[in-house]
Amino acid sequence: MTLKIGVIFDKPQVEVNNTIEAKCGDKQKYATKKEICKVLKKRYDVVEIAADDKIINNLIESKIDLAFPLCTGIIGESRQSQVPAILEMLGIPYIGSGILAHSLALSKSMAKQIFDYNDISTPAFQIFNNINDRLDCRLNFPLIVKPSCEGSGFGIHRDSVVYNEQDLMEKVKKLLKEYRPPVLVEEFIEGRELTVGIIGNEDEKIFLPIMEINFDDIPKEFGEFYTFEVKSNFGEKTKYLCPVPINRETEQAIKDNAERAFDALGCKDFARIDIRLRENKPYILEINSLPGLKPQYSDLPKMALKAGLSYDKLIFKIVETAIKRIKNEKEYIVVDSLTDQIS
Ligand SMILES: Nc1ncnc2c1ncn2[C@@H]1O[C@H](COP(=O)(O)OP(=O)(O)O)[C@@H](O)[C@H]1O
Ligand SMILES: [Mg+2]
Repeated sequence: MTLKIGVIFDKPQVEVNNTIEAKCGDKQKYATKKEICKVLKKRYDVVEIAADDKIINNLIESKIDLAFPLCTGIIGESRQSQVPAILEMLGIPYIGSGILAHSLALSKSMAKQIFDYNDISTPAFQIFNNINDRLDCRLNFPLIVKPSCEGSGFGIHRDSVVYNEQDLMEKVKKLLKEYRPPVLVEEFIEGRELTVGIIGNEDEKIFLPIMEINFDDIPKEFGEFYTFEVKSNFGEKTKYLCPVPINRETEQAIKDNAERAFDALGCKDFARIDIRLRENKPYILEINSLPGLKPQYSDLPKMALKAGLSYDKLIFKIVETAIKRIKNEKEYIVVDSLTDQIS
């Protein structure tokens, strides 16, 4: 019997907050869902299920064997975990990271505390919960001020990098108001920017070729790093070097840190890790536990292509990786009848 996969997608974010950033995000999400369904239909029965207030009934009625949640979520600091939580409650196996890993990965400040504990290299940082917090004098300018629980460059603009305490506190105040606490302040690593894709679990992980993102051709007024403006408007002018020209020792240090970050947060099946290099030392900025999967646009499909994985092959590889993991974990899954169908 053909496996039935439920592709779960977010309802439009503009229904909740009508911003340029939300409009942009909605467009990417819609295109990604459409492409993934097109691929999956070549091999599986596919149903599309919206993450709305009818999701529980729709999931039960759909009788899917496996879910592919594409939901980064809309409201709440653990929004990326909401659909996995519903799926676990219903005993439906799903592709990708679990509730805890998505929550930790979405919260850069939590993730960094775990990286620190595990000796995983990450830029020195401070967490600001309110405007009366004072700057830790061990941090060296320039600093970058970021919302803790966002992605896709939301809240990251050219003026996010600050060179003195007055500008820092102004920016912290602004972000505390716009994004809710905490606000993350990090040392700005002035060096090359790389991203690393991992597919797999435990000792069967594969690394996609590491990609460098180069901002030399971006007009300086939009920032010399991956600001929201660069991410959304300057894809054509951003240079993607893949595989990155890098010495073997540095490559090994990058992979080692990326894998330890993946495992420390308990990620599953696939993820993308953002890194900056300073004097050949890698610093992990964040781990994307549900990285963008839009063909020709998102970083993971670009890197996969360099590894000989077409978009179709990448999506099937992710599905197969999840099925293998679920089979191994089977004894822990509440509703066995669902996993029995995954053969
Ligand atoms: N500590 C840092 N040092 C240098 N650049 C940074 C730092 N933090 C963020 N950036 C820049 O901002 C971009 C977005 O930051 P990131 O933490 O990855 O947030 P997002 O989740 O929005 O991608 C990065 O890709 C990088 O270009
Ligand atoms: Mg990032």
